[in-house]
Parts: sequence; C-alpha cells; structure tokens
Amino acid sequence: MDELHVRSRGQRQGEIIYAVHPRVWGQGVGTAIGQELLSTGFEDLELHRIYATCDPRNLGSARVLGKLRKMGGTSSSHRADPGRLARLGHVQHPRR
Ligand SMILES: CC(C)(COP(=O)(O)OP(=O)(O)OC[C@H]1O[C@@H](n2cnc3c(N)ncnc32)[C@H](O)[C@@H]1OP(=O)(O)O)[C@@H](O)C(=O)NCCC(=O)NCCS
Repeated sequence: MDELHVRSRGQRQGEIIYAVHPRVWGQGVGTAIGQELLSTGFEDLELHRIYATCDPRNLGSARVLGKLRKMGGTSSSHRADPGRLARLGHVQHPRR
C-alpha cells in the first residue's frame, strides 16, 4: 500500500504513506516504495518538500525514513509529537 498526497499546492508540499506486509519486511520493499513515491513527488509533481510520519516504536519505519532523507537531500531533524507517538520527518528536494 502506498499513497502520495499533495498537502499544499502553494507551498509545494506533500505527504507519503506506505505499508508493507510483515511477511516481507526487511527485504528492501519499503525503501523501494519510498524512493518511488519521492521520485513521483519531486520529479512529476514538482514538490519541494515531502513529509512522512512514523511510529518511533516501529524501527523499520524509522530506518526507512532515515534512508529516504539521505537520498533526498537536506533534511530537518525529527519533530516529536508525544500526543500521537508519531515522529515526523521530511525530505527536501536538494535544489529547490
Ligand atoms: C516501514 C515499513 C514499510 C518498512 O518496510 P520494509 O520492506 O521492511 O523496509 P526495508 O526492507 O526497506 O527496510 C529498511 C531498513 O529497516 C530495517 N527493518 C525493517 N523492519 C525492521 C524491524 N522490524 N526491526 C528493525 N529493523 C527493521 C531493515 O533491516 C532495513 O535496514 P537496513 O537499511 O540496515 O538494511 C514496514 O515496517 C511497515 O509497513 N510498517 C507499518 C507502516 C508504517 O510504519 N509505514 C511508514 C510510515 S507511512
């Protein structure tokens, strides 16, 4: 399952959501999906910044986010949201 939502057309921001069946976790599928979504968002939709949230207890999810940020260019630090136990990260296009 994967989704790319444009959250702000004016600010060119989007959000990606993805999930992989637990039977195939750890085989690179999550990272590949994330890369594909970033490519669509940055190249096809010309977004400048793409967000993703993850539960910090989900180590695989946090790891995928970290890898995507490195691939995508500059990044801000995570912003913790204790209320939802969510962690927000974003990937910024390196030249925008
Ligand atoms: C996040 C998720 C998509 C990762 O999918 P995946 O196919 O396992 O991802 P990858 O195989 O690309 O794994 C990336 C890294 O995380 C590690 N990893 C995966 N599952 C892990 C786990 N349960 N515990 C620890 N590390 C884990 C992998 O070993 C890999 O590490 P590496 O880069 O050192 O090789 C999957 O865990 C998932 O569907 N989670 C629930 C939904 C979710 O949290 N979505 C993300 C936010 S929208």
